[in-house]
Order: sequence, then C-alpha cells, then structure tokens
Amino acid sequence: MKNVYFYLISFVLAFKQPIPFAEHNLPKNKIHKIQTPENQDVAVWWNKKTKEWNAVHNVCPHRQASLSEGVVNPKSSCIKCRYHGMEFNKQGKCTMIPSSTFNPSMFSVKNYFVKEKYGLLWIDDKKNTDIVINILEKPHTKLPWFISVTEADYKSVIENSIDAAHFNQVHHGIVGLNRYKSPLGIYNKSYKNWFNSTGFSCTIETAKPNIPSTEYIFLEPYNTQVKTKNTYIFAITYPINNGKIKFISNLIIQDKKWYLDLFFRIFRPLIKITGKEVFRQDIQIINSQNQNLYNRALKYTTISQADIAVTLYNKWLEKYGNENI
Ligand code: FES
Ligand SMILES: [Fe+2]
Repeated sequence: MKNVYFYLISFVLAFKQPIPFAEHNLPKNKIHKIQTPENQDVAVWWNKKTKEWNAVHNVCPHRQASLSEGVVNPKSSCIKCRYHGMEFNKQGKCTMIPSSTFNPSMFSVKNYFVKEKYGLLWIDDKKNTDIVINILEKPHTKLPWFISVTEADYKSVIENSIDAAHFNQVHHGIVGLNRYKSPLGIYNKSYKNWFNSTGFSCTIETAKPNIPSTEYIFLEPYNTQVKTKNTYIFAITYPINNGKIKFISNLIIQDKKWYLDLFFRIFRPLIKITGKEVFRQDIQIINSQNQNLYNRALKYTTISQADIAVTLYNKWLEKYGNENI
C-alpha cells in the first residue's frame, strides 16, 4: 500500500508535486525568495488585500532583476521591480510600466500557488493539486517542523534517511544512543514490500523478540518515511541550486496524545537544538562520504540486512530515476 504521499499528475511540464518550503508563520512584512527543485527561484509575498500568499517567478522580464529584491505596492498589493518599476499581480500579469506608452498586458511572469497545509507552506504551479499525507490526515502528535538548507547531495541525504544501521553510530551520545551498543540488536531479516515507479517499501527486522519491525518507505521523488509501530520519521529532501539541499522533517506519532503534546511543547527549545545537532552529524558524515563518492551504488558493498533500503533506492534511481526526477 502506498499509504502516504499522493498527488495529481499534470500534463504540462511542471512541478511533479507541491513542495514545502517554510513553516506557516513566515513573516508577512517582506518578500521571500524561494528556491525550488526545478532551479526556478520564486518571489513570494503576502497580499494584504486578498489575505493570501502570492508567488511569481523571481526574474523580471525586462532586464532580469530579482523581483524578490523589489517592493509590494501598498495600494495594489502587486510586486514591483526595484530596477525600473514594472508591477506584476498574483497571476503574474504586468499591470504597470512606469513612464511607458506600452500596454503592460503584453508582459507577464510565470505565477505559482502557495498553499498552507500541516503547518507548512507549499509551493505549486497548479492551482487545484491536493496535498494529502495520510498520516497527517489522521489524529496525530508531531514535533515542530525541522527545516534546514545546507550544502549536500540530496540523494545521499535520502539514503541516510532510510539507513537503519547509522542511527546509534552517527548519533552516538544523542538521547542515550551508543555506538558500542546496538539498541535494536542484530538485523537478521529484511524484505521488500513493494517497488514500482512511485517508490518502494521494505521492512527490516531484528533478532530481539520485543523489538517491532521497521518499515522504510520511499515515495518519489523526495519523501522518505521510517515507520516503527505508530511512529514515523518523515522527511522531504530536495535539491536547490548551487549544490544545496532543503531538508524538511518531523517525528509524527499516530493518535493525538495530550501528554506528548505537552511534553513536546515544554521541551520545544531542547528538541530544536537536538534536531539541529542530529542533522549536523548526518550532513558531516554525508559530506565526508561524498568526497569519495564517484559512482555511488556501484562502489557500495552490503554488510547487513539493514542495507536493503539504500540498495532499493539505488535500484529505483537506476530504473526510474531519469524519468521521475
Ligand atoms: S529589470 Fe525589472 S523593470 Fe527593469
Ligand atoms: Fe541520522
């Protein structure tokens, strides 16, 4: 069962799916420059008139100045280029060219749609695409969203997100994890649940009878989930320009638990610091790996049942990667 990330496919060359880019409480008093996987920078601003986020391609058609460096016209709520003052509305139509006899409607920029869901803002180039993540549709408790931009290879970060054997090694010292003691015991069994153009799922089991099995899910092109009993580690990792990635993640627990909500609220600052440190540790090892990585999967060796998810991810990239990414 592909139980989580679902989207409607569009026929035009476009975003494959909405992309989360910020928490819902993004400051409304400035224009934001958002980087997307298609290498298209987008200018996002709050429209005070219609009380919604507006978004257009960041490049002014006149001489390619960044519209995100411009201003929002307080009267019209249109975005105004700082260079020669062209203005664009939420549809991306030019509404005004200062001191010109040209008809502004001859000019336009591509527009985008900003949607708010699950405490995140998502950017999309289609108006009616739905964002549905099944686990977040049902009652749940979750941490504050962790959002970070850093220099890394996004495929290696996806591998890391579904890598069972790294947790107590890379994150030694965090919440009692110890590189000399495996909390889960020996990985003695693994199997594939499904594998197709939309992603894959596999399960890894350990020899300890009281440890539940863990399911590793990849949903193309950017979403991973690690599911143990009723807990999900959810992540979306996508490339942006200049060798950087954006990583958005959360720990989601099925069912609404008031005591967990309270616990998470009280320890919010500590959780944020811990999340940052965990991410820093992952990126550090990934970047050290990437200095040696010329041909990822071909040079990998399998050392335990826990490697199945990374192996499947590379098989998936080989089979479907070019058509899907
Ligand atoms: S570059 Fe934007 S108006 Fe000239
Ligand atoms: Fe990690």
